[in-house]
Amino acid sequence: MISQFDLKNEYALLRDEIQNELEKVFFNTSFIGGSNVDLIEKNIKDYLGVKYAISCNSGTDALHFALRSLGIGKGDEVITTPFTFISTIEAIMYVGAKPVFADIDLDTYNINCEEILKKITKKTRAILPVHIFGNPVDVERIKNVINNDSIKIIEDCAQSFGAGINCKRTGSIGEIGCLSFYPTKNLGCYGDGGMVVTNSEESYEIIKKLRNHGSSIRYHHDIIGYNSRLDEIQAAVLNVKIKYIDQFNLMRAKIAKIYDENLNNCKNIITPKKTKNGFHVYHQYTVLSKNRDIIKTELEKNNIGSAIYYPISLEKQNVYKNSFNNKQNCINSNYLSNTCLSLPMYPHLSEENVIKVCDTIKKIK
Ligand SMILES: Cc1ncc(COP(=O)(O)O)c(C=O)c1O
Repeated sequence: MISQFDLKNEYALLRDEIQNELEKVFFNTSFIGGSNVDLIEKNIKDYLGVKYAISCNSGTDALHFALRSLGIGKGDEVITTPFTFISTIEAIMYVGAKPVFADIDLDTYNINCEEILKKITKKTRAILPVHIFGNPVDVERIKNVINNDSIKIIEDCAQSFGAGINCKRTGSIGEIGCLSFYPTKNLGCYGDGGMVVTNSEESYEIIKKLRNHGSSIRYHHDIIGYNSRLDEIQAAVLNVKIKYIDQFNLMRAKIAKIYDENLNNCKNIITPKKTKNGFHVYHQYTVLSKNRDIIKTELEKNNIGSAIYYPISLEKQNVYKNSFNNKQNCINSNYLSNTCLSLPMYPHLSEENVIKVCDTIKKIK
């Protein structure tokens, strides 16, 4: 069986280090807010070159808190991509704002800059690009094109830890970056986890309170907050795994290259394109094909896993349609939803197995 993702090889490799760190946590019995949480915040600040990193319970909370910290709410609009996981728009809807969709590029699968321009109104308070599948969005270009400092850019980096563009890491280019440590993410923990990164002291101060019951001094509560803390167990795992992130991302890029070389000339398959000047970290390797469902079935018959991310463009989701009675149709995003297929991708996937996946696809008439 070649699964679509696999965490077992990674654990086998890191087992001694992780168990050693976990044993220390269990021995110390300091499970919430301790040295591991402080250390992962410092590690990520250093890695991304930002001033502040605030850990929290999930990528979804990170997005929610980022929007809240900018005072975005009822009557405001946030422009985002329709080709993403639901969390991206859930966060916008949590604060009472309206998600407005700008369609994507067919080659990078990312939000299209010119489409963003068309969607800007007086109500636009933020742009929320997602570095989908680990392929960086050119955030600097969006900033230059919109040329309006009052519209803030919040980067959804849930899938792009370690990716970069023009020598800057995703998460460090916009006003705020939001990370997810969901186990299957490039930098994943062993449960739920997330983080907000920013250079804005104002956002930092607000988010620090939001994640901890509205409080930064014990039993002093200034605002209504949440219980959204990263715990020591997850932080300990992340502090081990972050040492390997560059190596593992390069392993993903190497696998992607083998897929490219073997599938580029394959009839009916379109391979993913990297953003110009970007470093793609291949959270997913996603091809497009009109024969997507046939390929998926054939792979299954050969014990090869694959996945459809995302089968429904977000403007077509009931939760969105029912809330905003919106008749929008994002043509490119819908095209991707009908044709995309994510092939097996994880750092320890062997070259032999990548070739097996490609050969199985190539045999399909
Ligand atoms: C693009 C994107 N944004 C946000 C999230 C939310 O992250 P989490 O699952 O940690 O809440 C995810 C997670 O799947 C994601 O893929």
